[in-house]
Amino acid sequence: MGKENSSAYPVRFYTSCRSDNEWLRLKISEVLRRIFNGHSLFEVAVQEALNNALHFAKAKVSIKINLLCGRRVVVRIQHWGLGFSGNTVLNTIEKDFAIQIENRLMDESGRGLMIMKAGTHCACYNKDGKEVLLAVRLPAY
Ligand SMILES: Nc1ncnc2c1ncn2[C@@H]1O[C@H](COP(=O)(O)OP(=O)(O)O)[C@@H](O)[C@H]1O
Ligand SMILES: [Mg+2]
Repeated sequence: MGKENSSAYPVRFYTSCRSDNEWLRLKISEVLRRIFNGHSLFEVAVQEALNNALHFAKAKVSIKINLLCGRRVVVRIQHWGLGFSGNTVLNTIEKDFAIQIENRLMDESGRGLMIMKAGTHCACYNKDGKEVLLAVRLPAY
């Protein structure tokens, strides 16, 4: 894992669902790859959450990436728009990635939340489903 300086965090981004957000995806990947020293399933989980937020937002989307004590990565993505019962959906998803793949690979939709659950130690929505928190502990090195 990268030995990141905690004082550089949190990193915040704000955007509009109407913008071309390719730069933002790259920026977020860059921050997470610095923390993880490369690719991670957590990065894919964050990008899935961002896709949903941008899709269901009516206006602004905010993203906060925090690194706590150099050990715990916490990402909050909040959007202003349509929400949903995110935790109810998350609770129906099996944590075991192999079982999920087996059960859901051919589904039309639902792989985003599945990846969010599989790529984190904690994934949860707020009450109105407009904010999601994704967290993971970095392995000790
Ligand atoms: N931020 C959100 N606001 C409202 N509904 C959402 C949001 N995120 C996800 N959903 C709902 O949860 C469903 C599953 O999301 P996801 O697993 O990412 O699959 P997909 O995006 O392929 O539909 C979406 O189809 C949508 O109905
Ligand atoms: Mg999605």
